Amino acid sequence: MTAQPFSLHANCPRHVAIIMDGNGRWATQRGRPRKLGHLQGAEAARKIVRVASEVGLSYLTLFAFSSENWRRPGSEVSELMSLLQRYLGGEHRQELEELGIRLRVIGQRERLPESTLRQIERIEDETAHHKGLSVVIAISYGGRVEIATAARRLAQKVQDGELDPGEINETLLERYLETNAIPDPDLLIRTGGEKRISNFLLWQLAYAEMVFSDCLWPDFDRDAFLAALEEYQMRERRYGALVSTG
Ligand code: FPP
Repeated sequence: MTAQPFSLHANCPRHVAIIMDGNGRWATQRGRPRKLGHLQGAEAARKIVRVASEVGLSYLTLFAFSSENWRRPGSEVSELMSLLQRYLGGEHRQELEELGIRLRVIGQRERLPESTLRQIERIEDETAHHKGLSVVIAISYGGRVEIATAARRLAQKVQDGELDPGEINETLLERYLETNAIPDPDLLIRTGGEKRISNFLLWQLAYAEMVFSDCLWPDFDRDAFLAALEEYQMRERRYGALVSTG
């Protein structure tokens, strides 16, 4: 089947964030281990990264492992870590090179295994000069802890006499978030049928449009992604202001 052209007319999102939910159910429905769902999920992520690059998005943020996912059984955590490590560790290196993709990771690095951390630092270094799509992978990420950490760092500056509390505003706090220098997502997509944010990019999603899909993540393909982008293009964003009457 030939790929459907996606028209990059006005109102194309610059930054899309995705909660990739439904891997476990996808596998269970087929009587297979959850691990297989995650494996298929990683494959779906690889394909969506390619489409995002083709349509000219600037940023794609993928929620791969939340700060709450550490509570899953140890075997599933290890499987997810090794899957992520493979993804970051060069399995798709050639594709990243070909598409000029820059890879970055956000999340609590101190909780990650040493080997995963090394892979992350390596791939971030190796792709830092790429000028195409930036793919941001959230691993061991939680929105509340990110904001609390920023607050703690600001408080430390005040205590050290380097900052006046009166100078703390939204712009300054944003600089202390992990997404510093990355524009806020325009669109959040969540697959898997649930309609919640689950502690993902709490600050950054303040004005994002949201598209919820019943599709389980391993089934989320090019057409489903383009349909979500088209739905975004039809929405009118007002940021709290009134509708423009032209
Ligand atoms: C949610 O499905 C998904 C995850 C916890 C992991 C997401 C990870 C991937 C898609 C694979 C790796 C990603 C990259 C970027 C290589 P779930 O297990 O909660 O599904 P369920 O709700 O059906 O149980």
